[in-house]
Amino acid sequence: MINYVIMFGRRGILSIISDDNDFINVKQEKKNPVVKTDANDSDRAFENSIRPKDFGSYIGQTNLLKHLKITIEASKKREKALDHILFYGPPGLGKTTLAGVIGNEMGVPVKITSAPALERPRDIIGILMSLEENQILFIDEIHRLNKVAEEILYPAMEDFYLDMTTGKAQTVKTLRIPLPKFTLIGATTKAGELSGPLRDRFGIVHRLEFYTPVELAQVIKRTAKILDIEIDEKSAYAIARRSRGTPRIANRLIKRVSDYAIVKNDGKITEDIANKSLDILEIDEYGLDNTDRNLLKLIIEKYDGGPVGIETISAAIGEDSRTLEDVCEPYLLQCGLLQRTPRGRKVTPETYRHLGYKISNSNQQSLF
Ligand code: ADE
Repeated sequence: MINYVIMFGRRGILSIISDDNDFINVKQEKKNPVVKTDANDSDRAFENSIRPKDFGSYIGQTNLLKHLKITIEASKKREKALDHILFYGPPGLGKTTLAGVIGNEMGVPVKITSAPALERPRDIIGILMSLEENQILFIDEIHRLNKVAEEILYPAMEDFYLDMTTGKAQTVKTLRIPLPKFTLIGATTKAGELSGPLRDRFGIVHRLEFYTPVELAQVIKRTAKILDIEIDEKSAYAIARRSRGTPRIANRLIKRVSDYAIVKNDGKITEDIANKSLDILEIDEYGLDNTDRNLLKLIIEKYDGGPVGIETISAAIGEDSRTLEDVCEPYLLQCGLLQRTPRGRKVTPETYRHLGYKISNSNQQSLF
């Protein structure tokens, strides 16, 4: 348990000072909006401007939406905060967007932060104490929470209080600080790295799935409309096919294709213009970029199709192993170009075909 000196004002707790002089100004914390740290400002502003705000404008994740609509309706009828929700799945599939949609549908504000921003006890305590009744707290990359922050979260999630001690030795007193009933929405690309006790405290756990090209074409048309970009069905589908099942990528590609169309075709996007522009960006028919292809080519050229360990791949192609595991691999696994085995990663006959390699006699057996 953490030892704190708590200062009370006429309207409740004013500030908290821990043993190591870690100072929390509760009132001030309320005024400071917490922001995500993983994207640059213009990316974030663009993503925010096109995010769907409610179920009506949200495309894809049909099953998940069905469940959420029922949960939200039940919670409204009960007049109680929603259960805590955990979303997991590859990046860019809309975990943050869904948190915003849920907030809107519930009619409550959403406070957004990410685990790396909650390094010190004061960070998580400050946020918890600044929440309002029924508010949603969204913690991105929740698998990266440190042990202390997790321990603080347990009673907060379960019974809505914080346990603190004041004083030293014989004079030590335990203080239980009540918190408003809130809903924690956690998001992670690595559900397996969440500790058991934390995972167990989420009443609702959902996996986000990759989008189909048909769904992505709808996302692209919706974004194009918001950005006042003219696009037909075929062109939207051409971009969708190369967007690796990910709305965030689809939304980035539409801007690049639109730039190309402005320069080469008076702004008019055709299927041919879309394909040419994506060829220039070196995004292939599967939606693979250079990093994906380098990873796969290395396994074929240097390891005869695999298996080979992720750390070896990472060192050889000069890409962080975490990025490879979180960003590249989920899609390559999903589209059957990569396999995970106990002895490492290996490619498939389809990888050889797609990248234009011949399958040699020596690796024929291990691949099939
Ligand atoms: N933009 C990003 N994700 C979206 C989604 N799921 N629906 C509509 N527009 C989006």
